[in-house]
This record gives sequence, structure tokens and C-alpha cells, in this order.
Amino acid sequence: MNVAILTGGGDCPGLNAVIRAVVRRGERHGFGVVGIRDGWRGLLEDDLFPLPTEAVRGILHLGGTILGTSRTNPFKRDDGPQRVLDHLARRGVDAVVAVGGEDTLGVANRFHGLGMKVVGVPKTIDNDLSGTDYTFGFDTAVSIATEAIDRLHSTAEAHARVIVCEVMGRHAGHIALHSGLAGGADVILVPEEPVNVDRVCDHVRRRQGAGHRFSIVVAAEGAQIERGRDEVVSADLDEFGHVRLGGIGAYLAKEIEGRTGIETRSTVLGHIQRGGSPTARDRVLATRYGVFAADLVHEERWGTMAALHGDEIVGIPLAEATRELKLVDPRLYSVAEVFFG
Ligand code: F6P
Repeated sequence: MNVAILTGGGDCPGLNAVIRAVVRRGERHGFGVVGIRDGWRGLLEDDLFPLPTEAVRGILHLGGTILGTSRTNPFKRDDGPQRVLDHLARRGVDAVVAVGGEDTLGVANRFHGLGMKVVGVPKTIDNDLSGTDYTFGFDTAVSIATEAIDRLHSTAEAHARVIVCEVMGRHAGHIALHSGLAGGADVILVPEEPVNVDRVCDHVRRRQGAGHRFSIVVAAEGAQIERGRDEVVSADLDEFGHVRLGGIGAYLAKEIEGRTGIETRSTVLGHIQRGGSPTARDRVLATRYGVFAADLVHEERWGTMAALHGDEIVGIPLAEATRELKLVDPRLYSVAEVFFG
């Protein structure tokens, strides 16, 4: 069987571990594997290349993706879907492994409806895919954000400041909540729990009143505050209809300083959360996903995705995985609230 693999959407640590696992397990199943460059763009433009075992040696620990990635949506291009299907047929590709988040896997699911033999692997630092307990890449992003929060503590304390740390996650607050909990944040703002700035300031004042010289506020980029709209870097929509979020940290810092009179700074972690080596946990998870995805292909379970349920990897319908965003569990948020202020 000839199998093509692509990585789409924002990159995340662990992509190379998945690619390596698909190729290595595929070797056992007798697959010929080809790589698709830059996600769905590579299939639109017939940009494929052989991916022998030698090409995936020494990449387990590397961030990024040796295949490249893009946010190209073939369904937004004139005869895009047909071009993709024609290129696959001409190249003699029997099956596709799509590694991505809601957008990439949403496209995979639509192609499944058009007859493509496709399986999926759930990727995103945001951990917002329903159908799986965890996506790979999330653990690494949380670890990086936690280390940043640890570092912000000492400088905030030295200067008696409030520091707002803005983290990624789009419209889900998983990264903010987990890193904020792990880093001992004094307030955590997530999209799922809208809050007004006065409440944030109350926590900061309470800490100051109790003799603490500093406060750390962790804000998800998509957190909802009293303005009732997203803070955006750019309102232009990408091919999947997303704006570029960003700016909530700076907005909050200005408001907190203005209302409390305490000097306040903000730090945006941005793409640092997505770069570099995956954690051991993400390497293991990505490897398990990749091996399982190759098995899904071998068993011809088209239209399914590898998912983590408890400690078991299972196959679930792609449709289920992309139906809705997985949001923060309010019970976990209330655990974090115990430590606010
Ligand atoms: O979905 C992953 C993610 O890192 C989001 O957390 C973030 O909002 C977005 O991608 C950033 O996208 P880009 O790399 O296009 O700036």
C-alpha cells in the first residue's frame, strides 16, 4: 500500500515523532511512504517526495516538522478538492495520514466524504480537540509556559510589580489553566470563564494588602473580559475563518496599573510555546499515535482518528473528533480559583 503523510495547521512539538512512527510501523506493514509538503498545499500543488526510513532517523526529539506545514484549505480553492484527488490518483497514493488540529482534520473528514482513504492524528498545543483526552504538543507548551511563569515570579517580586503573562490556546483556556496551576498564578483568565477587570484588581489588591510584593496573572489569548470581544492582532480571517488573537496581556496590564496604581508589565510567550523539543510525555504520546495511525491504515479503518482515552489509544470517527471544541472543565478551573488572590 502507498501511504502519504501530511502535517497541517500550526506546528507543534512531536510532529516529527509521529512521522517517524508512521514510517517505521509502515515499514512493518509493507507500506511505501511519501511525504506531502506543507499540509494540504502539497496535495493541491502535487508537492510530494519519498519518505524512506533513512529520512526519519534522528528526528524523534526535533521540534517543527520535516514535512513543513501550512494553513491551506483546499475547499477554499477553485476545483481544489478535485485537484487533490487527481494528484493522489496520478501518484498512485492509496491512503493519507493527516496530522493536524480541528482545521486539518476537518478537511480530512470532508475528503473522507468524497471517498479519500484517510486517517487522522490529533495535534495541537491548544488541546482543544474533542474525542481525545490529550493532543500531543500540549504537554510541551504547558511545560514551557510553566517555566516562564516561574521565571516571571522572581523578577516580579524583585520589582514589586504585577506581571501579566499572555499564553496561546485560541478559544480554549487549557494552556493558561494548566500552566497557571502548575506555576502558582495568582489569577488565571480563560475564555470559558469571562471575568471583569475589577475582579482581577481585587485579587491583586488583596495580595498587596496581605503583604505580598507582587502578583502573577496568566491570561489565555482568547480570554473574555468586560469588553465582550476578542483582543486581536489582526481581524483578517485565515482560510479556516480564524482571526489572529493577541493583545489581551497589554490591555490588562494597562488597566490593572491604572486601577490599582501598582506598576504592571506584560509578557507574551507567543510562538516560544510551539518551538523546540517535545517533552518525554509528548514524544511517547506522538509515537503511540503514529504507530496506531499506521495500524488504522493497515486495517483500512478509513475516516477514523487515533485518540487517547484514559491511557489507551483507540480509533474514533474523524467526524466525532471535529464536531466541537473541547473546552476547559469548570471543575478544574474551580481548583485553580482556590489559589487566586
Ligand atoms: O492553534 C495553535 C496556535 O498556536 C494558537 O494557540 C494560536 O492562536 C495560533 O496557533 C497562532 O497561529 P500562527 O502561528 O498562525 O500565528
